[in-house]
Amino acid sequence: MTAPKEHFPVIEPGALAEIGSMLDDGLLVADDSGTVMSANNAAVRFLGEGLVGRDLVDLIPAKDVSDVVAGRGRERTFSFAAETSVAMEFNVRIRQMDDGRIIVMLLDMTLQRNLEKVRRDFVANVSHELRSPLTSLAGFIETILINEVRDWPTQQRFLRIMEEEAGRMSRLIDDLLSLSRVEVDEHIIPDETVPLLEVVKSVIASLETRASQRGMRIRLSDRRSQSTGRLVMFGFADEINEVFHNLIENAIKYGFDNTVIEVELELAGPERVMISVTNRGETIAEKHISRLTERFYRVDKARSRKIGGTGLGLAIVKHIVNRHRGAMEVSSAEDGLTRFAVSLPVIAQP
Ligand SMILES: Nc1ncnc2c1ncn2[C@@H]1O[C@H](COP(=O)(O)OP(=O)(O)O)[C@@H](O)[C@H]1O
Ligand SMILES: [Mg+2]
Repeated sequence: MTAPKEHFPVIEPGALAEIGSMLDDGLLVADDSGTVMSANNAAVRFLGEGLVGRDLVDLIPAKDVSDVVAGRGRERTFSFAAETSVAMEFNVRIRQMDDGRIIVMLLDMTLQRNLEKVRRDFVANVSHELRSPLTSLAGFIETILINEVRDWPTQQRFLRIMEEEAGRMSRLIDDLLSLSRVEVDEHIIPDETVPLLEVVKSVIASLETRASQRGMRIRLSDRRSQSTGRLVMFGFADEINEVFHNLIENAIKYGFDNTVIEVELELAGPERVMISVTNRGETIAEKHISRLTERFYRVDKARSRKIGGTGLGLAIVKHIVNRHRGAMEVSSAEDGLTRFAVSLPVIAQP
Protein backbone atom coordinates (compact mmCIF):
# COMPACT_ATOMS: atom_id res chain seq x y z
CA MET A 1 0.00 0.00 0.00
CA THR A 2 1.33 3.41 -0.94
CA ALA A 3 0.27 6.59 0.83
CA PRO A 4 -2.18 8.80 -1.05
CA LYS A 5 -0.52 11.64 -2.89
CA GLU A 6 -1.26 15.02 -1.45
CA HIS A 7 -2.46 16.64 -4.66
CA PHE A 8 -4.96 13.84 -5.13
CA PRO A 9 -7.17 13.91 -2.06
CA VAL A 10 -8.88 10.66 -1.17
CA ILE A 11 -12.66 10.77 -1.11
CA GLU A 12 -13.57 9.68 2.39
CA PRO A 13 -15.42 6.34 2.53
CA GLY A 14 -18.71 7.95 3.58
CA ALA A 15 -18.70 10.33 0.63
CA LEU A 16 -17.78 7.52 -1.74
CA ALA A 17 -20.85 5.56 -0.66
CA GLU A 18 -23.00 8.65 -1.08
CA ILE A 19 -21.68 9.32 -4.58
CA GLY A 20 -22.05 5.64 -5.44
CA SER A 21 -25.71 5.67 -4.47
CA MET A 22 -26.32 8.54 -6.92
CA LEU A 23 -24.79 6.74 -9.89
CA ASP A 24 -26.71 4.79 -12.52
CA ASP A 25 -23.50 2.94 -13.27
CA GLY A 26 -22.34 0.09 -11.11
CA LEU A 27 -19.52 0.88 -8.70
CA LEU A 28 -17.48 -1.68 -6.79
CA VAL A 29 -14.61 -0.95 -4.42
CA ALA A 30 -12.27 -3.82 -3.58
CA ASP A 31 -9.16 -4.05 -1.43
CA ASP A 32 -5.77 -4.68 -2.99
CA SER A 33 -6.37 -8.44 -2.98
CA GLY A 34 -9.52 -8.03 -5.05
CA THR A 35 -12.05 -8.68 -2.27
CA VAL A 36 -15.12 -6.50 -2.68
CA MET A 37 -15.54 -4.06 0.21
CA SER A 38 -18.52 -2.10 -1.02
CA ALA A 39 -20.97 -2.02 -3.89
CA ASN A 40 -23.56 0.55 -4.87
CA ASN A 41 -27.20 -0.22 -5.67
CA ALA A 42 -26.65 -0.29 -9.41
CA ALA A 43 -23.90 -2.91 -9.01
CA VAL A 44 -26.27 -5.04 -6.92
CA ARG A 45 -28.94 -4.65 -9.59
CA PHE A 46 -26.48 -5.75 -12.27
CA LEU A 47 -24.62 -8.54 -10.48
CA GLY A 48 -26.96 -9.66 -7.70
CA GLU A 49 -26.99 -9.47 -3.89
CA GLY A 50 -24.16 -10.47 -1.57
CA LEU A 51 -21.30 -8.78 -3.40
CA VAL A 52 -19.33 -7.70 -0.34
CA GLY A 53 -16.67 -10.26 0.52
CA ARG A 54 -16.68 -11.82 -2.95
CA ASP A 55 -13.70 -11.94 -5.25
CA LEU A 56 -13.69 -9.47 -8.14
CA VAL A 57 -12.21 -12.14 -10.37
CA ASP A 58 -15.19 -14.42 -9.68
CA LEU A 59 -17.72 -11.67 -10.23
CA ILE A 60 -16.17 -10.45 -13.45
CA PRO A 61 -14.17 -13.33 -14.87
CA ALA A 62 -12.00 -11.42 -17.31
CA LYS A 63 -8.26 -11.36 -17.84
CA ASP A 64 -8.20 -7.58 -17.41
CA VAL A 65 -9.55 -7.98 -13.87
CA SER A 66 -7.07 -10.67 -12.85
CA ASP A 67 -4.26 -8.57 -14.34
CA VAL A 68 -5.09 -5.52 -12.25
CA VAL A 69 -5.66 -7.60 -9.11
CA ALA A 70 -2.29 -9.32 -9.64
CA GLY A 71 -0.59 -5.97 -10.19
CA ARG A 72 0.09 -6.60 -13.88
CA GLY A 73 -1.63 -3.35 -14.79
CA ARG A 74 -3.19 -0.34 -13.11
CA GLU A 75 -6.06 0.46 -15.39
CA ARG A 76 -8.08 -1.39 -18.00
CA THR A 77 -11.26 -0.86 -20.00
CA PHE A 78 -13.12 -3.75 -21.61
CA SER A 79 -16.53 -5.13 -22.57
CA PHE A 80 -18.12 -7.78 -20.48
CA ALA A 81 -21.27 -9.85 -21.01
CA ALA A 82 -22.74 -10.91 -17.67
CA GLU A 83 -24.39 -14.30 -17.47
CA THR A 84 -27.13 -13.15 -15.14
CA SER A 85 -30.78 -14.19 -15.60
CA VAL A 86 -31.08 -11.62 -18.40
CA ALA A 87 -28.20 -11.18 -20.79
CA MET A 88 -26.50 -7.88 -20.02
CA GLU A 89 -23.54 -6.14 -21.56
CA PHE A 90 -21.22 -3.73 -19.83
CA ASN A 91 -18.33 -1.48 -20.51
CA VAL A 92 -16.10 -2.11 -17.53
CA ARG A 93 -13.38 0.20 -16.21
CA ILE A 94 -11.09 -1.06 -13.55
CA ARG A 95 -8.38 0.97 -11.86
CA GLN A 96 -6.08 0.52 -8.91
CA MET A 97 -5.85 3.68 -6.83
CA ASP A 98 -2.70 4.93 -5.19
CA ASP A 99 -3.77 3.54 -1.82
CA GLY A 100 -4.08 0.07 -3.34
CA ARG A 101 -7.87 -0.14 -3.46
CA ILE A 102 -9.36 -1.26 -6.73
CA ILE A 103 -12.33 0.58 -8.22
CA VAL A 104 -14.60 -1.00 -10.83
CA MET A 105 -17.19 0.95 -12.82
CA LEU A 106 -19.82 -0.91 -14.82
CA LEU A 107 -21.58 0.99 -17.60
CA ASP A 108 -24.73 -0.78 -18.72
CA MET A 109 -24.59 -1.02 -22.52
CA THR A 110 -27.39 -3.56 -22.89
CA LEU A 111 -30.03 -1.18 -24.23
CA GLN A 112 -27.65 0.44 -26.68
CA ARG A 113 -26.39 -2.92 -27.98
CA ASN A 114 -29.97 -4.12 -28.39
CA LEU A 115 -30.91 -0.98 -30.28
CA GLU A 116 -27.92 -1.40 -32.54
CA LYS A 117 -28.95 -4.97 -33.21
CA VAL A 118 -32.56 -3.97 -33.91
CA ARG A 119 -31.34 -1.37 -36.40
CA ARG A 120 -28.99 -3.79 -38.14
CA ASP A 121 -31.70 -6.43 -38.35
CA PHE A 122 -34.13 -3.86 -39.69
CA VAL A 123 -31.86 -2.77 -42.51
CA ALA A 124 -31.16 -6.41 -43.36
CA ASN A 125 -34.89 -7.18 -43.36
CA VAL A 126 -35.81 -4.22 -45.54
CA SER A 127 -33.12 -5.10 -48.05
CA HIS A 128 -34.25 -8.69 -48.13
CA GLU A 129 -37.94 -7.78 -48.50
CA LEU A 130 -37.17 -5.41 -51.36
CA ARG A 131 -34.78 -7.76 -53.06
CA SER A 132 -37.19 -10.65 -53.54
CA PRO A 133 -39.75 -8.79 -55.66
CA LEU A 134 -36.91 -7.04 -57.48
CA THR A 135 -35.24 -10.36 -58.31
CA SER A 136 -38.51 -11.66 -59.61
CA LEU A 137 -39.07 -8.56 -61.76
CA ALA A 138 -35.56 -8.75 -63.19
CA GLY A 139 -36.07 -12.44 -63.91
CA PHE A 140 -39.22 -11.89 -65.95
CA ILE A 141 -37.75 -8.98 -67.85
CA GLU A 142 -34.77 -11.12 -68.76
CA THR A 143 -36.97 -14.03 -69.77
CA ILE A 144 -39.01 -11.85 -72.08
CA LEU A 145 -35.94 -10.18 -73.61
CA ILE A 146 -33.60 -13.13 -73.95
CA ASN A 147 -36.09 -15.79 -74.83
CA GLU A 148 -37.90 -13.26 -76.98
CA VAL A 149 -41.26 -14.28 -75.69
CA ARG A 150 -43.52 -13.06 -78.45
CA ASP A 151 -46.83 -14.70 -77.82
CA TRP A 152 -49.20 -12.29 -76.21
CA PRO A 153 -50.88 -14.62 -73.65
CA THR A 154 -47.52 -15.59 -72.15
CA GLN A 155 -46.36 -12.00 -72.14
CA GLN A 156 -49.56 -11.03 -70.41
CA ARG A 157 -49.15 -13.72 -67.79
CA PHE A 158 -45.64 -12.49 -67.07
CA LEU A 159 -46.75 -8.88 -66.96
CA ARG A 160 -49.45 -9.72 -64.40
CA ILE A 161 -46.87 -11.27 -62.11
CA MET A 162 -44.61 -8.28 -62.63
CA GLU A 163 -47.46 -5.97 -61.76
CA GLU A 164 -48.02 -7.89 -58.55
CA GLU A 165 -44.35 -7.71 -57.61
CA ALA A 166 -44.19 -3.99 -58.32
CA GLY A 167 -47.30 -3.58 -56.18
CA ARG A 168 -45.61 -5.44 -53.35
CA MET A 169 -42.60 -3.14 -53.49
CA SER A 170 -44.76 -0.10 -53.45
CA ARG A 171 -46.84 -1.37 -50.50
CA LEU A 172 -43.65 -2.08 -48.64
CA ILE A 173 -42.37 1.43 -49.23
CA ASP A 174 -45.73 2.94 -48.22
CA ASP A 175 -45.67 0.93 -44.99
CA LEU A 176 -42.06 1.84 -44.28
CA LEU A 177 -42.84 5.52 -44.72
CA SER A 178 -45.89 5.19 -42.50
CA LEU A 179 -43.86 3.45 -39.85
CA SER A 180 -41.07 6.00 -39.90
CA ARG A 181 -43.59 8.84 -39.74
CA VAL A 182 -45.36 7.44 -36.69
CA GLU A 183 -42.03 6.68 -35.05
CA VAL A 184 -40.74 10.19 -35.54
CA ASP A 185 -43.99 11.74 -34.35
CA GLU A 186 -44.49 9.36 -31.47
CA HIS A 187 -43.70 11.95 -28.79
CA ILE A 188 -46.07 14.57 -30.20
CA ILE A 189 -49.21 14.60 -28.12
CA PRO A 190 -52.24 14.72 -30.39
CA ASP A 191 -54.55 17.68 -29.90
CA GLU A 192 -57.10 17.28 -32.69
CA THR A 193 -60.43 15.76 -31.79
CA VAL A 194 -61.43 12.58 -33.52
CA PRO A 195 -65.01 11.28 -33.76
CA LEU A 196 -64.14 7.67 -33.04
CA LEU A 197 -67.33 5.94 -34.04
CA GLU A 198 -67.49 7.79 -37.36
CA VAL A 199 -63.89 6.84 -38.13
CA VAL A 200 -64.57 3.16 -37.39
CA LYS A 201 -67.71 3.26 -39.53
CA SER A 202 -65.89 4.77 -42.47
CA VAL A 203 -63.13 2.15 -42.23
CA ILE A 204 -65.76 -0.58 -42.28
CA ALA A 205 -67.47 1.01 -45.29
CA SER A 206 -64.16 1.18 -47.16
CA LEU A 207 -63.45 -2.51 -46.58
CA GLU A 208 -66.92 -3.97 -47.10
CA THR A 209 -66.36 -4.80 -50.76
CA ARG A 210 -63.15 -6.65 -50.00
CA ALA A 211 -64.87 -8.62 -47.27
CA SER A 212 -67.77 -9.55 -49.50
CA GLN A 213 -65.40 -10.85 -52.17
CA ARG A 214 -64.63 -13.61 -49.66
CA GLY A 215 -68.21 -13.99 -48.56
CA MET A 216 -67.45 -12.19 -45.31
CA ARG A 217 -69.53 -9.64 -43.50
CA ILE A 218 -68.36 -6.96 -41.06
CA ARG A 219 -70.77 -6.36 -38.19
CA LEU A 220 -70.48 -3.35 -35.92
CA SER A 221 -72.01 -3.60 -32.44
CA ASP A 222 -72.15 -0.72 -30.04
CA ARG A 223 -72.26 -2.30 -26.59
CA ARG A 224 -72.36 0.87 -24.55
CA SER A 225 -75.34 0.93 -22.21
CA GLN A 226 -76.37 4.31 -23.55
CA SER A 227 -75.00 4.48 -27.04
CA THR A 228 -76.33 7.95 -27.62
CA GLY A 229 -73.29 10.00 -26.57
CA ARG A 230 -70.69 10.80 -29.18
CA LEU A 231 -67.31 9.22 -28.69
CA VAL A 232 -64.61 11.79 -29.12
CA MET A 233 -60.92 11.45 -28.43
CA PHE A 234 -57.80 13.55 -28.79
CA GLY A 235 -55.87 12.12 -31.66
CA PHE A 236 -55.10 12.16 -35.33
CA ALA A 237 -58.00 10.92 -37.40
CA ASP A 238 -55.73 9.57 -40.16
CA GLU A 239 -53.77 7.50 -37.68
CA ILE A 240 -56.83 6.16 -35.87
CA ASN A 241 -58.19 5.30 -39.29
CA GLU A 242 -54.95 3.45 -40.07
CA VAL A 243 -55.23 1.39 -36.86
CA PHE A 244 -58.68 0.04 -37.62
CA HIS A 245 -57.97 -0.29 -41.31
CA ASN A 246 -55.02 -2.54 -40.48
CA LEU A 247 -56.91 -4.63 -37.93
CA ILE A 248 -60.02 -5.15 -40.05
CA GLU A 249 -57.94 -5.78 -43.16
CA ASN A 250 -56.04 -8.48 -41.25
CA ALA A 251 -59.33 -10.00 -40.12
CA ILE A 252 -60.36 -10.21 -43.78
CA LYS A 253 -56.98 -11.57 -44.87
CA TYR A 254 -56.54 -14.15 -42.15
CA GLY A 255 -60.16 -15.09 -41.50
CA PHE A 256 -61.99 -17.99 -43.14
CA ASP A 257 -64.30 -17.48 -46.10
CA ASN A 258 -67.98 -16.89 -45.40
CA THR A 259 -67.52 -15.83 -41.79
CA VAL A 260 -68.55 -12.72 -39.87
CA ILE A 261 -66.04 -10.17 -38.57
CA GLU A 262 -67.28 -8.58 -35.37
CA VAL A 263 -66.30 -5.03 -34.55
CA GLU A 264 -67.41 -4.29 -31.01
CA LEU A 265 -67.31 -1.09 -29.10
CA GLU A 266 -67.70 -0.87 -25.35
CA LEU A 267 -66.82 1.45 -22.53
CA ALA A 268 -63.80 0.38 -20.51
CA GLY A 269 -64.11 2.99 -17.78
CA PRO A 270 -65.50 6.51 -17.62
CA GLU A 271 -62.94 7.88 -20.04
CA ARG A 272 -61.87 4.84 -21.95
CA VAL A 273 -63.33 2.90 -24.78
CA MET A 274 -62.44 -0.55 -26.05
CA ILE A 275 -62.82 -1.39 -29.70
CA SER A 276 -62.25 -4.97 -30.71
CA VAL A 277 -62.04 -6.77 -34.02
CA THR A 278 -62.79 -10.48 -33.88
CA ASN A 279 -62.56 -12.89 -36.76
CA ARG A 280 -62.84 -16.62 -37.22
CA GLY A 281 -59.81 -18.22 -38.77
CA GLU A 282 -56.72 -20.20 -37.94
CA THR A 283 -55.65 -19.92 -34.32
CA ILE A 284 -52.44 -17.97 -33.68
CA ALA A 285 -50.25 -20.07 -31.38
CA GLU A 286 -49.39 -18.50 -28.03
CA LYS A 287 -45.67 -18.18 -28.78
CA HIS A 288 -46.37 -15.88 -31.74
CA ILE A 289 -48.80 -13.55 -30.00
CA SER A 290 -46.32 -11.36 -28.16
CA ARG A 291 -44.20 -10.99 -31.29
CA LEU A 292 -46.90 -9.99 -33.79
CA THR A 293 -46.15 -6.28 -33.41
CA GLU A 294 -42.47 -6.71 -34.27
CA ARG A 295 -41.57 -5.31 -37.64
CA PHE A 296 -41.71 -7.96 -40.36
CA TYR A 297 -42.91 -10.62 -37.96
CA ARG A 298 -45.34 -12.97 -39.68
CA VAL A 299 -46.65 -16.28 -38.46
CA ASP A 300 -46.51 -17.73 -41.94
CA LYS A 301 -44.22 -15.64 -44.11
CA ALA A 302 -45.01 -17.26 -47.41
CA ARG A 303 -48.75 -17.04 -46.87
CA SER A 304 -48.65 -13.41 -45.73
CA ARG A 305 -46.58 -12.50 -48.80
CA LYS A 306 -48.94 -14.28 -51.10
CA ILE A 307 -51.88 -12.27 -49.84
CA GLY A 308 -49.99 -9.01 -50.09
CA GLY A 309 -48.75 -8.61 -46.51
CA THR A 310 -45.64 -6.68 -45.56
CA GLY A 311 -45.49 -7.68 -41.90
CA LEU A 312 -45.44 -4.03 -40.90
CA GLY A 313 -49.15 -3.43 -40.28
CA LEU A 314 -49.24 -4.35 -36.61
CA ALA A 315 -45.94 -2.57 -35.90
CA ILE A 316 -47.57 0.61 -37.23
CA VAL A 317 -50.72 -0.10 -35.19
CA LYS A 318 -48.70 -0.50 -32.02
CA HIS A 319 -46.88 2.80 -32.47
CA ILE A 320 -50.07 4.71 -33.15
CA VAL A 321 -51.86 3.13 -30.20
CA ASN A 322 -48.95 3.96 -27.87
CA ARG A 323 -48.88 7.51 -29.02
CA HIS A 324 -52.58 7.87 -28.27
CA ARG A 325 -51.99 6.48 -24.78
CA GLY A 326 -53.89 3.36 -25.67
CA ALA A 327 -53.21 -0.34 -25.27
CA MET A 328 -53.72 -3.40 -27.41
CA GLU A 329 -54.57 -6.94 -26.34
CA VAL A 330 -54.49 -9.93 -28.62
CA SER A 331 -56.09 -13.27 -27.98
CA SER A 332 -56.60 -16.28 -30.16
CA ALA A 333 -58.68 -19.14 -28.87
CA GLU A 334 -58.70 -22.82 -29.78
CA ASP A 335 -62.08 -22.41 -31.43
CA GLY A 336 -60.49 -20.12 -34.02
CA LEU A 337 -61.73 -16.78 -32.72
CA THR A 338 -58.95 -14.22 -32.94
CA ARG A 339 -59.49 -10.89 -31.26
CA PHE A 340 -57.48 -7.68 -31.44
CA ALA A 341 -58.78 -5.22 -28.86
CA VAL A 342 -57.61 -1.64 -28.64
CA SER A 343 -58.47 0.55 -25.69
CA LEU A 344 -58.25 4.30 -26.14
CA PRO A 345 -58.85 7.29 -23.91
CA VAL A 346 -61.91 9.35 -24.85
CA ILE A 347 -63.03 12.74 -23.71
CA ALA A 348 -65.72 12.40 -21.03
CA GLN A 349 -69.11 13.34 -22.39
CA PRO A 350 -71.47 15.33 -20.21
N1 LIG B 1 -56.67 -11.63 -37.54
C1 LIG B 1 -55.58 -12.38 -37.64
N2 LIG B 1 -55.66 -13.74 -37.61
C2 LIG B 1 -54.56 -14.51 -37.71
N3 LIG B 1 -53.31 -14.02 -37.82
C3 LIG B 1 -53.15 -12.69 -37.84
C4 LIG B 1 -54.26 -11.80 -37.74
N4 LIG B 1 -53.79 -10.53 -37.79
C5 LIG B 1 -52.45 -10.64 -37.92
N5 LIG B 1 -52.05 -11.92 -37.94
C6 LIG B 1 -50.68 -12.43 -38.05
O1 LIG B 1 -49.81 -11.39 -37.67
C7 LIG B 1 -48.85 -11.15 -38.70
C8 LIG B 1 -48.47 -9.69 -38.71
O2 LIG B 1 -49.55 -8.88 -39.11
P1 LIG B 1 -49.25 -7.53 -39.89
O3 LIG B 1 -48.20 -6.80 -39.12
O4 LIG B 1 -50.52 -6.83 -40.15
O5 LIG B 1 -48.55 -8.03 -41.22
P2 LIG B 1 -49.16 -8.55 -42.61
O6 LIG B 1 -48.67 -7.53 -43.58
O7 LIG B 1 -48.55 -9.90 -42.82
O8 LIG B 1 -50.65 -8.55 -42.51
C9 LIG B 1 -49.51 -11.64 -39.96
O9 LIG B 1 -48.57 -12.02 -40.92
C10 LIG B 1 -50.30 -12.84 -39.45
O10 LIG B 1 -49.45 -13.95 -39.37
MG1 LIG C 1 -51.63 -6.58 -41.97
